Amino acid sequence: MIDAHDFLPATPAEVVQPLDHAIHLWRMPWRREQGRALPLRVLAGYLHVDPSTLRLETGPHGKPFLPAACPLRFNWSHSGEFALLALAGDVEPGVDIELPREGVRALDLARRFFTPEESDALEQLPGHERESSFLQLWTAKEAVLKALGHGLAFGLERIGFALRQGTWHPVRFAAEAGAAADWQVLPLRIAGNYAGALAWRGPTRPVRAWAWAPGEE
Ligand SMILES: CC(C)(COP(=O)(O)OP(=O)(O)OC[C@H]1O[C@@H](n2cnc3c(N)ncnc32)[C@H](O)[C@@H]1OP(=O)(O)O)[C@@H](O)C(=O)NCCC(=O)NCCS
Repeated sequence: MIDAHDFLPATPAEVVQPLDHAIHLWRMPWRREQGRALPLRVLAGYLHVDPSTLRLETGPHGKPFLPAACPLRFNWSHSGEFALLALAGDVEPGVDIELPREGVRALDLARRFFTPEESDALEQLPGHERESSFLQLWTAKEAVLKALGHGLAFGLERIGFALRQGTWHPVRFAAEAGAAADWQVLPLRIAGNYAGALAWRGPTRPVRAWAWAPGEE
């Protein structure tokens, strides 16, 4: 679990360094009118280039990525007032953050989109825990799909998790996603009551987290 207090205040200029085998996370403010500007600034910092020169390519389901020659893999997510960018050198990261929304009927959505085992596990939780556990599972599944570059149409029920001691663990994935045991899926608490998850396929990696408040650098 990466918690809100693990995000250390920093600027990209201070932190840019070889990633080695680590995964770096950047939390930053997000406003629709700024679009991709801030994540692109961080990305450009790691590549030591001007953001205006970055040319991203787009996968068949919308995943942006750098040309194959670039030694950096990334993914970002935005919800409410924050964006979260994940950067890695040798694994393909997927991230998802979600701010709880009013009036979401967690169990109805679970019965519709999740596996029967996942819905049953959620049903057994008390109401307030159910809402947050539902969102934790949703972000875990979406982070895996985003690492793969798929969209929700892949089928959230094809990325199966089991709830053990309050945490969702990958247990059964469709063949195209690879063996569940090969995946790392970390819950994230980036701020307040946001839910989030970081996923990658491959061995465990150290994760380092920074909070960037542009304008304060
Ligand atoms: C990918 C998806 C699950 C993300 O949904 P979301 O929770 O609303 O969005 P998030 O904030 O977590 O992530 C959005 C960011 O993820 C990235 N992204 C977009 N599609 C992606 C994909 N398939 N895989 C990984 N990352 C993706 C982008 O950077 C995007 O932000 P941007 O548009 O500001 O650059 C959802 O958009 C989806 O299902 N897309 C698939 C659509 C599709 O299949 N299109 C093909 C039509 S032929």
